[in-house]
Amino acid sequence: MNQATALAHPNIALVKYWGKRASENNIPATPSLSITLDTLVTRTSVRESEQDQIEINGSVVSDTKIEDFLVRLRAAYSLPPLAIESSSNFPTSAGLASSASGFAGLLTAIDTAFGLDMNASERSIWARRGSGSAARSIFGGFASLEEENGHWCARGVLPREAWPLKVVIAITSETAKSVGSTAGMERSEKTSPYYGAWTESTRLDHAAGLSAVSRQDFSRLGSIAESSCLKMHALMLSSQPPLFYWNGATVETIAAVRELQGGGVRVFFTVDAGPQVKAICQENAASVVAERLASVPGVLRTLVCGLGPGAYVDQPG
Ligand code: PMV
Repeated sequence: MNQATALAHPNIALVKYWGKRASENNIPATPSLSITLDTLVTRTSVRESEQDQIEINGSVVSDTKIEDFLVRLRAAYSLPPLAIESSSNFPTSAGLASSASGFAGLLTAIDTAFGLDMNASERSIWARRGSGSAARSIFGGFASLEEENGHWCARGVLPREAWPLKVVIAITSETAKSVGSTAGMERSEKTSPYYGAWTESTRLDHAAGLSAVSRQDFSRLGSIAESSCLKMHALMLSSQPPLFYWNGATVETIAAVRELQGGGVRVFFTVDAGPQVKAICQENAASVVAERLASVPGVLRTLVCGLGPGAYVDQPG
């Protein structure tokens, strides 16, 4: 019987993506730059079945994002009904990029189980159609999602071993986000007066971010990443109705990161469509950063990750 299991890790964008050029096929309005994490992982199994069934973290669900994705994939490839089981070792839909690891793993498992024979760029293009950020989780280390020869797909720009940064995640809420990314992006594009400035400056940030990664310039990358994050949240806040993803502890945690920076610790922050703060730091700063963030009132717990590999197939035995 055709079946396969894939493992995929979430990624955190340092130059953010927020806005689509076309919702059909999920084409981003701008390029983005990310790091793929280790430790947090989504394990996805697929097998041929009598009818489609999607199970996420032990519960059978109806998930329109996955269902729509399967409709598109079946328009290009002949696939039988599928039983999909996906489980993550971290909170889903809370700004920890579970859709990135979910779609990267799902596509990788389907590709293997049914011999679709895709190369990494093709897998990235298909994963992007499920969720924009998933294109980047096909690759490990530092990845860039950009347009090349008319295709929007990610590529690896620096392997994780070359610059082994650490990421301390401060969890400030385990509740699922109120507005999902697709609806949120549409709202920002339609209503924020800042949308044009956002897409314009993100293109510049992406080029500058790639250059900082190639030079392994931590200070420069940190200032680009913090600025991209704050501009994205300014865009969200200026949407109508406003998209407000932070809570009080998010702000307190950012203040703690800034205080660490003031004391000479090599760390910078980023926040996605949720209230968790991700503090990216040099390897030798991880314990001091984790200890400080754990002491911020409202931080429920911290997770420490390194940089991880791209999506891969779990070989049985
Ligand atoms: O790919 P999506 O639809 O989950 O959107 C990702 C949006 C952000 O995480 C906020 C930014 C990014 O580039 O990952």
